[in-house]
Amino acid sequence: MTFLVVDDDRLNLHLVEKLLRSQYPSCRILLCQNPLEVLSMLSSNDIDIVLLDIVMPQQNGIEVLTDIRSISRYNDIPVIMLTSLTDTESFRSCFNAGANDYVLKPIQLFEFKARLRAAMQIRNNMTQIQEMYRQVTVQNEDLRLLNAKLKDAQFHMVQQEKLASIGELAAGIAHEINNPMGFVGSNLSTLQSFFTKIKQVLAAHETCMDLLFQTPDLPESIRTRMNAVRETERVNKLPFILTELEATLRESLDGVDRVTKIIQTLRNFARSGHDDEFSPCQLDDIIEEAMMIVRNESKYHLDIFHERNEMPDIFCSRGQIGQVVLNILINAIQAIKAQNRVGRGRICISVSQVRQDALIEIRDDGPGIPEEVRMRIFDPFYTTKEVGQGTGLGLSISHDIIVNKHHGGISVTNGPEGGACFIIRLPVQKEEPE
Ligand SMILES: Nc1ncnc2c1ncn2[C@@H]1O[C@H](COP(=O)(O)OP(=O)(O)OP(=O)(O)O)[C@@H](O)[C@H]1O
Ligand SMILES: [Mg+2]
Repeated sequence: MTFLVVDDDRLNLHLVEKLLRSQYPSCRILLCQNPLEVLSMLSSNDIDIVLLDIVMPQQNGIEVLTDIRSISRYNDIPVIMLTSLTDTESFRSCFNAGANDYVLKPIQLFEFKARLRAAMQIRNNMTQIQEMYRQVTVQNEDLRLLNAKLKDAQFHMVQQEKLASIGELAAGIAHEINNPMGFVGSNLSTLQSFFTKIKQVLAAHETCMDLLFQTPDLPESIRTRMNAVRETERVNKLPFILTELEATLRESLDGVDRVTKIIQTLRNFARSGHDDEFSPCQLDDIIEEAMMIVRNESKYHLDIFHERNEMPDIFCSRGQIGQVVLNILINAIQAIKAQNRVGRGRICISVSQVRQDALIEIRDDGPGIPEEVRMRIFDPFYTTKEVGQGTGLGLSISHDIIVNKHHGGISVTNGPEGGACFIIRLPVQKEEPE
């Protein structure tokens, strides 16, 4: 413990020093005869308790005390006034200025010991509280960092899980559909080529029938049979069947083609859900894949317009960018559906190049995003959807993918006619970002 004793009288100083030394032999004692030096001594030493004389010629003790208390970091230092004054007014001034206690001169040992014990107790308690406060602050900071790490880990786990479960589902479905689709497609192609041949044979039969009908001496029994054949053809609408069959086969083959494309898309997603591989990609192809995936979600409620543009290949992770476009599209579809509007909604997507950046613009004509929501939509777990409907991760994952993994940018504004407009910026570069 370090004491600072302030008194203009040298004899008094030494008396107090002697008393202190006899009571607390291990303590440090600093003596100050000039009150004008008190503040500088406080700032250059770690003082625990100040013993302060009141009547001094250069500056009185109450003024010194006022100076000490005007500096907030000295507020916790107990100050004991040493005084021969006994009038109430002086005591009041001392306490008003921030004194903790006083000791009357000439000093009585029992009083000196008691006042000092109380002051030391205060000081020790103060030091302990300060230490505890410091520890709590450090622990709070540790907890804050830990919490941030946990949130980060949780965010990435959920992201991985989300991608992986989409990937697994997609891979499973794609596999199941792929095989039957393969033989349906090949059977349809076979049917189409058989049908062409059947048509050729039927045409030959028709030509032959026409010739026979023109033969003047054709026996009546044969003419009757031939008429019966023509009648059967008419009743069964053969010409109609032939035209329809051709169109039906063509449409079925188109359908199979579409399913095959969807399977391919799902497979791309399944693969890219697991790896973060970067490769040169056409953004328009990625957009089309995402559109195909949301088709069923959107077809009864809105139209999605995609304007293809001549663009260079963009070096990016196909799966991750697909995931971002998908998240934004699903949000827009959900926002439009939630309006329960009478007419159909509309989403417009376009890609363009501005200097060294590729921009994907996804604009919807839904309700738009209020300012206070817009500030927070990229925060993890922020959602305005009902419990169980949204995890609030779609856009924060997208932000992470675009900003951290692709060194691009993602922003959102409300269009002049309402609706939200997301803009994704990706650098046009030849190599994977660092
Ligand atoms: N096109 C949009 N129109 C209106 N609001 C939108 C649109 N896109 C995003 N939002 C708002 O941003 C919020 C955050 O979107 P985000 O995709 O991160 O989470 P979510 O859709 O709520 O849940 P999750 O995507 O995890 O299922 C949404 O809850 C919604 O309020
Ligand atoms: Mg979402």
